[in-house]
Amino acid sequence: MYPFIAWVIFAPNQTNLNYMKFFIDTANLDQIREANALGVLDGVTTNPSLMAKEGITGKDNVMKHYKAICDIVVEGDVSAEVIATDYEGMVSEGLELAELHPNIVVKIPMIVDGIKALKYFSDKGIRTNCTLVFSAGQALLAAKAGASYVSPFIGRLDDVSTDGLDLIEQIRVIYDNYGFDTEILAASVRHPMHIIKCAEIGADVMTGPLSAMLALAKHPLTDIGLAQFLADHKKASANG
Ligand code: E4P
Repeated sequence: MYPFIAWVIFAPNQTNLNYMKFFIDTANLDQIREANALGVLDGVTTNPSLMAKEGITGKDNVMKHYKAICDIVVEGDVSAEVIATDYEGMVSEGLELAELHPNIVVKIPMIVDGIKALKYFSDKGIRTNCTLVFSAGQALLAAKAGASYVSPFIGRLDDVSTDGLDLIEQIRVIYDNYGFDTEILAASVRHPMHIIKCAEIGADVMTGPLSAMLALAKHPLTDIGLAQFLADHKKASANG
């Protein structure tokens, strides 16, 4: 009884205590299908560069592509980024994106007009992902504006000799201090160690390439062990 009461009082105020969500960071439908088939995928993040990489241009095609992604990952959130950088533009683009499918999360850049847009969508009950976050101050602002997700780009921080995981840790502390509901979506994940460290810190979500997810499954001792099991089985079957 007493340990339970202590847990209720002192448990960290995290939104997802049960598991870290796995999002795939791509607009490639084949990779999204492959990740979804693993059965551990919880959503998708895209950005204008990822859409361009797939050759998706023109508003109609972009909208169709988001719909196609939502049709693959039927129960997962799909972040769709606005292109406008002014408040009115972000609001009108975001409203159109949100109408596409209930799983669409409107992705808004961390700029001053973006903060206003986050607040607008939060007041309307439309979910948002605040992107291009590189500091704890930006993450604090995003949470105060009511962002559903905040996306610190850990790989890009590592690229400029700044530990991206330190930022995840800092945001975790700040959000837990005040009980913010905003989920920490560790973005720009590049490799399996990023994923493991994010899980240790308590990020709510990580988004990364399929290769990083698949790399989690790999261990040379697993391969050696399996080869041995199969060889022994073959030998025993041949003898018996
Ligand atoms: C997040 O939503 C972004 O799309 C993404 O994670 C950026 O990652 P990159 O630094 O690998 O481009």
